[in-house]
Amino acid sequence: MQRRQAEATVLSKRKVAAETQVASGMHYVDPATGAVIPPIQPSTTFARDADYALINPAHSYSRDENPSFATAEAMLCEMEGAEQALLFSSGMAAAMAVVQALGPGDHIVAPKVMYWGLRGWLQEFCSNWGLGLTLYDATDPEALDAAIRKGETKLVWIETPCNPTWDIIDIAASARAAQAAGAKLVVDSTAATPVLTRPLEHGADIVMHSATKYLNGHGDVMAGALAVASADDFWARIHSVRAYGGAIPGSFEAWLLQRGMRTVYLRVRQASASALAIARHFDGHPALEAVRYPGLESHPGHDVAARQMDGGFGGMLSFRVRGGAEAALKVVSRCEVLIPATSLGGVESLIEHRFSIEGPSSPIPEDLLRLSIGIEAQDDLIGDLEQALQAAV
Ligand SMILES: Cc1ncc(COP(=O)(O)O)c(C=O)c1O
Repeated sequence: MQRRQAEATVLSKRKVAAETQVASGMHYVDPATGAVIPPIQPSTTFARDADYALINPAHSYSRDENPSFATAEAMLCEMEGAEQALLFSSGMAAAMAVVQALGPGDHIVAPKVMYWGLRGWLQEFCSNWGLGLTLYDATDPEALDAAIRKGETKLVWIETPCNPTWDIIDIAASARAAQAAGAKLVVDSTAATPVLTRPLEHGADIVMHSATKYLNGHGDVMAGALAVASADDFWARIHSVRAYGGAIPGSFEAWLLQRGMRTVYLRVRQASASALAIARHFDGHPALEAVRYPGLESHPGHDVAARQMDGGFGGMLSFRVRGGAEAALKVVSRCEVLIPATSLGGVESLIEHRFSIEGPSSPIPEDLLRLSIGIEAQDDLIGDLEQALQAAV
């Protein structure tokens, strides 16, 4: 199951920035037609020649590989500085493939605060299938070393910034701790995006994205992605999990994804600039207990964030509203520009009460509102939040 990357793309010969490559879909020019936009290939199967050899050895059956994945996978490699990348049908499917590539009895370490859906699945899957799982407090600098079991821990999973408190985890320090124990470090970099953080450059082995979020950016594709520093045996097992299970996006979704990815640098920079302006504007607001945003100098993870994030601190922030859950829900209901909905990373701004989504077992404070800042006019977002917060003062 060898990967062959983007064979239909024509790469610019001059070394150019990743954002230049990504804007042009890896300088795509169709060798047959001259088209500058890649085609969608809906075929599930691929023909053989008179000698029964595959006409294109990279393509036999679409559960394994489809040519429509090539452009988005090559773009992600370019952005992350990765050797190879794989698209999946969702971010969860990408994460699950990593865990399913482990062996019986292997031990996983992951933070207590992380994407709740993945934490929930990890707890369930590890207990059903005999894998060890230790959830550690990522705000305690000693906790990761204490959680890792030398020789037993095979996977250290981190997410930074951590959803939805936006705590920051030091990628380089986590990589050192994982590698000293012979474990792989995988970073869920969905919120940071490759525009702001390239985890492989900080020592991570694999980067994971819910491509549903910023990579696509338009709220109309479910997809996930993994990108690897070095395509080793573990990566081959991950690829085999994808190929056997078929957790792949449809051709049209993969095509939409490459289209969305072309503007990711512009979108993420705009969202980050607006999120910072909003965080600064509302920091100290009488209706709020706290504003959680790693771009604020008062944020406990600011220095590490400044080291590993380049060009902004992301479009995600949270408010802790004075008056608890009731006041927080009132604020959401009064928003007229921000839309009350789950998810993140789109061009439209969303606001949500995480505790209502996650339920009573959630470690997330009941007064927390999560904001995903889009690309609307900054003044409209600030004005909307100002009038909505009047409900809580
Ligand atoms: C940080 C993070 N990781 C992973 C996921 C899962 O991605 P998907 O919904 O594409 O399966 C999400 C979804 O919200 C997320 O926010």
